Amino acid sequence: MFDTRILSADDVSIDEAAKLLKSGEVVGMPTETVYGLGANALDENAVRKIFAAKGRPADNPLIVHISRFDMIKPLVSQIPDLAYKCAEQFWAGPLTMIMPKSDIIPDVTSGGLDTVGIRMPSHKTARAIIDKCGFPIAAPSANLSGSPSPTTAGHVFNDMNGRIPAIVDGGFSAVGVESTVISFENDAIRVLRPGFISAEELKEITPNVIIDKGVTAKLEQGAIARSPGMKYKHYAPKADITIIDGSLESFRAYVKNHSDSETVCMTFADTDCDGLNVKAICYGESDEQQAHLLFDTLRELDNIGAKKVFARCPRKSGVGLAVYNRLLRAAAFQVVSMK
Ligand code: TXA
Ligand code: MG
Repeated sequence: MFDTRILSADDVSIDEAAKLLKSGEVVGMPTETVYGLGANALDENAVRKIFAAKGRPADNPLIVHISRFDMIKPLVSQIPDLAYKCAEQFWAGPLTMIMPKSDIIPDVTSGGLDTVGIRMPSHKTARAIIDKCGFPIAAPSANLSGSPSPTTAGHVFNDMNGRIPAIVDGGFSAVGVESTVISFENDAIRVLRPGFISAEELKEITPNVIIDKGVTAKLEQGAIARSPGMKYKHYAPKADITIIDGSLESFRAYVKNHSDSETVCMTFADTDCDGLNVKAICYGESDEQQAHLLFDTLRELDNIGAKKVFARCPRKSGVGLAVYNRLLRAAAFQVVSMK
């Protein structure tokens, strides 16, 4: 058991976080997407502590974070041309690229796969910590396995209190949903997890962008996930969420007919549920606002003890696809189509 401390993001704290990481400990750290649970990616024992703290299945690989492009070379056995182009365009930033791993990446880190996901975060505290350590940092989202990803140090504390020595507080994560995860196939980019870097933006690198079926569909039984994270239950608050896919008018009609005293709505605007006599939490009008607030909203639903939730459906393109992908999992794929 640790007495988990929340550190500010100043130089002294960054030094302290780096010291803990160098001694093989796990530290909660901010990134621009969500908070990560960091440890030395090359140290098997340190990485095992991440899996233990999260309760994460051992076959779900971790993303390895770097702060300078030249850190990538020893970690992978090959860098596809498209990866160079993507790095130039989108790094530092919310993009993870899957490449064949080198031998220095322990199997624990890659979940037994022969590939590794690499990301260069743009958050200045994250980069300062990696710089100070001088080694790459493996970091999954800093939530307990299965619960919503954390976008504040407080969220991390709620899940990790007692499980890790320290959390560096870098403020509210700007993006709010995890990085876009892509792999490369010949001359194509495959999106395994949508994020703030949208498929539309990736199409500027190559027109051959494939959105994996697992992004919007439940994995069929027995099917092999291209990304192990796809097969696990995710982001689930305790409430039973149903996504209502349709116009504001049809959403309001659905809520009117199906709500009771326990219903809470996740809306785009404060006024969406006016006159309907239900509690509502607004998570934003634009894709970016929805991404920013989604996980905080899912945690808020638990805090207020929500049992039955009707959510307005995010857009299925641009950054909206990332929001839709996460909300679908939080809703266990329950969607009512009003169109
Ligand atoms: O924004 C982010 O990516 C955050 C921050 C902390 O950087 N990290 C994050 O990590 O979301 P995590 O572990 O919660 O999600 C990583 C996802 C999982 O679904 C995992 O299965 C997939 O990426 N992944 C990682 N390495 C992979 C690989 N080699 N092949 C296929 N999928 C991989
Ligand atoms: Mg995660």
